[in-house]
This record gives sequence, C-alpha cells and structure tokens, in this order.
Amino acid sequence: MRTVAIVANKGGTGKTSLTLGLAGAAAHRGLAVLVIDLDPQGNATSHLRSTKGRTSAVDIFAHPTQATFESAIAVCNWDAALGEVDVVPSHPDLIRFDSWNGAMSNPKLARAMKGVVGYDLVLVDCPPSLGALTREALAAADRALVVTTPSYFGAQGVERALAEIREIQRSVNPDLELCGVVMNKFKPISEEHAFRAAEMNDIAGSRMVLKPYMPDRIAFQQAEGTGAPVQAISNSGAREVSEILDTYLTKILR
Ligand SMILES: Nc1ncnc2c1ncn2[C@@H]1O[C@H](COP(=O)(O)OP(=O)(O)OP(=O)(O)O)[C@@H](O)[C@H]1O
Ligand SMILES: [Mg+2]
Repeated sequence: MRTVAIVANKGGTGKTSLTLGLAGAAAHRGLAVLVIDLDPQGNATSHLRSTKGRTSAVDIFAHPTQATFESAIAVCNWDAALGEVDVVPSHPDLIRFDSWNGAMSNPKLARAMKGVVGYDLVLVDCPPSLGALTREALAAADRALVVTTPSYFGAQGVERALAEIREIQRSVNPDLELCGVVMNKFKPISEEHAFRAAEMNDIAGSRMVLKPYMPDRIAFQQAEGTGAPVQAISNSGAREVSEILDTYLTKILR
C-alpha cells in the first residue's frame, strides 16, 4: 500500500485537484484507491460526493483506532465505469485538530491506519498549512508530494514544506520520502514561469521536480463541478493533463 501526503502550506496551489486527478488515474488502472480528506474545507469530500456516513476524519482524531478508521470509510459516488474510489470524508470540525501541539510523539492517523489493508494507493489531501493535520498526514505516509505554482511565494512555500518533511523524517517517520514537487498551473509562454521553474529545480533538485510541468488548463475547473475526475472530461486539455497525471502516478508508485 502506497500512502501519499499531498502538501503545500500555500493555498490554492492545486493539492485537491492533484489528489483527485491522481485518484482518477489510479482508478482508471484498476487500482484500489482511498482518498483521505484532511482539509476542514472538505473540497475533495464534496467533489467525491460520498454517501454521507455518520463518521468522518474527525472521529479518527478523537479515537485513533483501526476500527474508527475503517468505519469512517465511505464509498464515493463517481460513475463506476471510472473505477472505484473510497473516501474518508472531511468535516468542518477537523479544524479543532489543526492547532500546533508541539513535537509529535504519537501520531494519531498513523496509529489508526497501521493495520489497514486492501488499498493499492492512499492519497491524503491536506489543508493549506503545515499545521498539525499536515504533520499527521506526513507521519502516516511513505511518500510526500508537494504541489506548488511557478511564483516567488510558491518557491518560499516549497522551501518550508521540504524543511517540514525533513523534520518529520527525523522525528517520527524515517520511512517518509519526497516523491516529487508538482509545478502546477504552468504557462510555457511566460518568461516569469520559466524563471520560477528553474528556481524550483535549484531548490528541490531537478530530479524531484516532476516533468512535464502541469499546464494551466481549464479542464481542472470543469471537472471540479461535475463530481467526476478530469479523466472523464472530453476535450484536448483534459486529455493532456490526464496523460501527465498518469506519468506522475507511475513515478509515485515506483
Ligand atoms: N493546472 C491547473 N490549471 C488550471 N486551474 C487549476 C489547475 N490546478 C488547479 N486549478 C484550479 O485552481 C483552483 C485551486 O485548486 P485546488 O482547490 O485544487 O487547490 P488547493 O491547493 O487544494 O486549494 P486549498 O489550499 O484551498 O486546499 C481550483 O479552482 C482548481 O480547479
Ligand atoms: Mg484543497
């Protein structure tokens, strides 16, 4: 089971879009996918239109046991033809668990997930911060994927995210590895974007910045409102980003 935390302390870089796009790519390959929505905003949860369960990720933090984790899993309502995806839904009350709590000695999500089997890929969509919920995701994951945009603030965000990943590796999760930095919303005609992309390659190492860069395509916004992954949109932009997502997935699963 590969567990990937999708992180960025900056908002709106595309964490949720990448989570759902990778879930779509993996489901298309016939893999068993679980999305854990740790963002109190609940964007992935509302997109996945899961059958409303009585429990959510909040219960896992309140009672971090495998039984609570498994009872929080809901089936998502994507068209079955697109492949099956399960979801641990978010809840607005998750915000209660995002406050800084000092050094993490006994991470809750990792504890609750320990014996969970049956999935090939678990994707954890994180809130736009490096607070306690993102740290919980990094402690439970074996891979971290950082999502950024080609901008000065984006570069700053990546530096902080990489430092946080190193800290979690050192303190509670030596198995955690960075599997890539996604350069999202890239516009090839922009000199500024080319400059920022080069800068990002210097910061993270060019092997770690996933290629090709993810272009700015309206297909992500089109997918957002449909309750289906970007793979279900039929236009050239959607096909282009679906191919790139599949390339990223191969690297993540390696
Ligand atoms: N490559 C892209 N091209 C164009 N639009 C994109 C792309 N990636 C994401 N978007 C759009 O950008 C907006 C923000 O994306 P998304 O919600 O995935 O970001 P996020 O990092 O999860 O945000 P938050 O920090 O609030 O959780 C959405 O409207 C989404 O459709
Ligand atoms: Mg999001």
